[in-house]
Amino acid sequence: MKNILVTGAVGQIGSELTMSLRERFGNDNVVAGGRKTKPSEKLLNSGPFEIVDCVDAQEIANVVKKHDIDTIYHLAAILSAVAEANPVLAWNVNINGLYNVLEVARDLKCAVFTPSSIGAFGPTTPLDNTPQDTIQRPNTMYGVTKVAGELLCDYYFKRFGVDTRGVRYPGIISNETLPGGGTTDYAVEIYYEAIKHKKYTCNLPAGTFLDMMYMPDAIKAGIDLMEADPTRLKHRNAFNVTAMSFDPEIIAAAIRKHIPEFTIDYDVDPVKKAIAETWPNSMDDSAARAEWGWEPEYDLETMTKDMIEVLSKKL
Ligand code: SER
Repeated sequence: MKNILVTGAVGQIGSELTMSLRERFGNDNVVAGGRKTKPSEKLLNSGPFEIVDCVDAQEIANVVKKHDIDTIYHLAAILSAVAEANPVLAWNVNINGLYNVLEVARDLKCAVFTPSSIGAFGPTTPLDNTPQDTIQRPNTMYGVTKVAGELLCDYYFKRFGVDTRGVRYPGIISNETLPGGGTTDYAVEIYYEAIKHKKYTCNLPAGTFLDMMYMPDAIKAGIDLMEADPTRLKHRNAFNVTAMSFDPEIIAAAIRKHIPEFTIDYDVDPVKKAIAETWPNSMDDSAARAEWGWEPEYDLETMTKDMIEVLSKKL
């Protein structure tokens, strides 16, 4: 029987992943773990909620014991732009938080899913068709914590046999919970602004290509990897996964097919621009496809259609 804890369950990915896991494994078997932000009514009313601050190992252990947890989806993390503004906080949450989760998992025998990111690459990485195994010398605190996290998860598997697995998520586009302080956030905001104001001022310059993915695929990636046959996994932690690659002009053109008056202009954030320049233009995700059957459902066209339908009703 599966008993799952999701840390960061109030965040962009966690809020939707928790609901999908509840549908699949039963409401009472999926504990939403959150910290400061108020959970939505939907999250609160559909299953158990616990306060879990990952920098407090005892708090994690208490919740794991109380609910007899066997699988942790560890989504609590600081995103790239916030990490550059507050590197000490990013190290504490992204590294000490992960270490605590891994230690609890080792002690109490849990499997652990940890997202890495396109941020785990850097300026010396080949940025086109970025290989699964390649140079990783990121120059951001976010990237440093993501590479260290990948290595730490590999170590806990090799040394202690903890069933650690993970993917390198690209920018995730969603319509329920806003992302908090990432470099790829523009690709979410652009849809909200297109519907509300028919125009958007973008903080990354035209020509900035980045990997992206629609939330249903991000959730599928996490669950499919955790359900995959372990004997097939050569790269346990940090599989490249992607669904599409575009720059601001291309996503704007896709939106214009539905909202012809939509316009985009630019007010570039130098910090985000510098971060984005060191991230892949497009990743090679063939290892994920070969080792656990990864295949995204949504491309830019189908995602845009769905985003506009959902957000038009919501806003
Ligand atoms: N979406 C994340 C960020 O922009 C990348 O993993 O920080």
